[in-house]
Amino acid sequence: MSRLIIEGGRPLEGSVRAGGAKNSVLPILAATIISGSESIIHNCPDLRDVHSAIAILRHLGCRVSQEGHTVTVDSAPMDRWDIPDHLMREMRSSVIFLGPILARCGKARMTFPGGCELGPRPIDLHLAALRKLGVAIQEEGGQITAWCEKPQGCDITLSLPSVGATENIMLFATACPGVTCIVNAAREPEIWDLQQFLQGIGASVSGAGHHDVRIGGQIALKKNTQHRVIADRIESATYLCACAAAGGKITVEDTEPSYFASVTQLLEESGCALQVGADRVTIQAPKRLRSVGPVRTMPYPGFPTDAQSPLMAAMCLAQGTTVFTENIFENRYRHCAELMRMGADIQVEGRLALVRGVDHLTGSAVKATDLRGGAAMVVAGLAAQGETSISEIDHIDRGYEKIEKAYAQLGACIRREE
Ligand code: UD1
Repeated sequence: MSRLIIEGGRPLEGSVRAGGAKNSVLPILAATIISGSESIIHNCPDLRDVHSAIAILRHLGCRVSQEGHTVTVDSAPMDRWDIPDHLMREMRSSVIFLGPILARCGKARMTFPGGCELGPRPIDLHLAALRKLGVAIQEEGGQITAWCEKPQGCDITLSLPSVGATENIMLFATACPGVTCIVNAAREPEIWDLQQFLQGIGASVSGAGHHDVRIGGQIALKKNTQHRVIADRIESATYLCACAAAGGKITVEDTEPSYFASVTQLLEESGCALQVGADRVTIQAPKRLRSVGPVRTMPYPGFPTDAQSPLMAAMCLAQGTTVFTENIFENRYRHCAELMRMGADIQVEGRLALVRGVDHLTGSAVKATDLRGGAAMVVAGLAAQGETSISEIDHIDRGYEKIEKAYAQLGACIRREE
């Protein structure tokens, strides 16, 4: 089992580049099967979740090659429509393949993604929408078997703007005759990126980033395409939180600052000085951070649930009390117990977490409870006095490419121990 060992208490200095967005590349890789032709995806981060998506594509019969940050998928030879349980378990978001497999093959079989470290992760909205679009779905023994009965575009109103459900509907609707309109669609930048990719293969999709997304289906899609994945806003926000916590001055390059304005706004409120450019953000930490007004996680453009734990790690050291409300996932406070091992003062009550700032954190043996919780432990370890050892870092590798290299580049004393 690998660990990260961090000798904390060193301010960060220098520049780091944000990679391609994990949450964009996964639905885009799934979307490559719709076209039945070749897709070249640039700025593809080299992450465990990406490897899992590639394993699914290969199982389905696609030809996939990876060279640096470019992944080429030829989905012409695809000859399967099922995903076995072991591949579904590798990555909880593998349910995003349901819509594209149905669009391409007219039938699909996979196991339920099940619960994950963030608590139950229902897919009821995905299934209800697909049924409305004319898909018959059987749920039995943890397995989903689905087939197209009478696919037909229609209006679908989501009771909440689920990212995954919006993506699955967009992907399947490309194969439905007529127009599909997703009302109350998720507005995350990753939805816009998926729209760009789909337009690239010749699909008719519009409205991403707004309340309604419209998909005109059954257009001949046989076009090779190239696509560049947008920058990872959560990775960018994580580096900024790390600098806020550990001190110093860093620049995050090759990013899109407007995608995480809700985070930079709070960092400014905490006393950090920020310079925002077209594709970069420079942050200078104050001597001591101040607590910030209530942090409530919300669908985009609100404060992202994925940035809640990295910001919390920084706020553990702020002067004053910060109140967090987690509105998206019910079990997203598991990192709090680990932060408390380092000396943080946190009280969790249901969806609320009360973080009273302390003078210092102390390096300790802690674990990565989940992907972003793990990233928060790295933030805390960089700021803490003494040595922090983080176990179960395979969670972190799901969403951050060689995280120790990125921080070492910023002057941190961090290493991976196998
Ligand atoms: C995506 C992101 C994840 C991020 C989350 C919220 C990917 C691969 N993952 O996850 O990093 O934290 O968006 O920004 O892009 N829900 C239902 N029924 C459903 C679907 C969702 O009740 O059928 C609920 C969920 O339990 C959760 C909320 O809706 O409480 C938001 O989930 P959703 O937006 O679907 O998140 P994901 O797509 O799973």
